[in-house]
Amino acid sequence: MKVEYNERVSLGQIDIRTDMVEKEVTILHLTDSHLLEVDDREEELDFLYAIQRKWKDIENVEAMSSRLHFNNLLQLGHEKEVGCTVMTGDVVDFPSLANLDFVKKSLQSLASPYLYTLGNHDWYYPYMEWNDSTRKDYYPRFFDFTYGNPAYQMVNVNGIKLIAIDNSNYQISEEQLHFFQEQLQDGLPCLLFMHIPLYIPSLATEVVQTWKAPIMMAAPGWDVKTQQLWKVRDADPSTIQFYHLVTGKEHDQLLGIFCGHVHFPHQDPFRPNRYQFITTPCFRGGYRIIRILPW
Ligand SMILES: [Fe+2]
Repeated sequence: MKVEYNERVSLGQIDIRTDMVEKEVTILHLTDSHLLEVDDREEELDFLYAIQRKWKDIENVEAMSSRLHFNNLLQLGHEKEVGCTVMTGDVVDFPSLANLDFVKKSLQSLASPYLYTLGNHDWYYPYMEWNDSTRKDYYPRFFDFTYGNPAYQMVNVNGIKLIAIDNSNYQISEEQLHFFQEQLQDGLPCLLFMHIPLYIPSLATEVVQTWKAPIMMAAPGWDVKTQQLWKVRDADPSTIQFYHLVTGKEHDQLLGIFCGHVHFPHQDPFRPNRYQFITTPCFRGGYRIIRILPW
């Protein structure tokens, strides 16, 4: 099987050329817009205003700028006639009703399908406990964007499978693993989209420098205190199995992994000649155009 990557940085674009496809497919990857819309339907309004101020002070990001970036990039996808728009989490900074209304309205304007997988922010108000139970409680708010299943989805665009899996708790469940294994059965070319990047040694240095913690999936090197602070448990057996499945030699057809979470762009091989791409956050105007091209 032939696969060749050509990153065109100035265009925010990655071209993946392969003999596995016959038709060109273009995809827009967006991540980490951290939308900050609030209104008086929220119980803890002052708390949410304080979060808005924090974003302004630390990142110079305002609700309006996040909103503009998000809609401008959807428009860019429209102009480029993308076959799918894929959002890999932290689309909203918290699941406020105003945020979800905004996302719903924006996505309604799309002319092609989209995928939305969740990040560690989407389902969580910062005054709550960050845990699997909170995620479960808030999943229903995302049913409209996820074909009724925020845990995993797949869309097939011209014979290329785009697979989205919610790993926002740093884990892959048994059910998600089973779903992914099933998706690989037919051997069709596929791309995997998740919020949290897979641990790759060449990525770890910059992640730890930036975040003072190895905030990647299945990462070694946590110290106990930092791990408790981030509420990240050791990788579950199903997460480890998923990690081996993805990084092993068996499934050539996985052409790329696309993530966000760490808020800087990067690309690293997760196995020989297969790359994981982290995209610049949308709140800074970042995006990635993915073109899959016939050989
Ligand atoms: Fe984020």
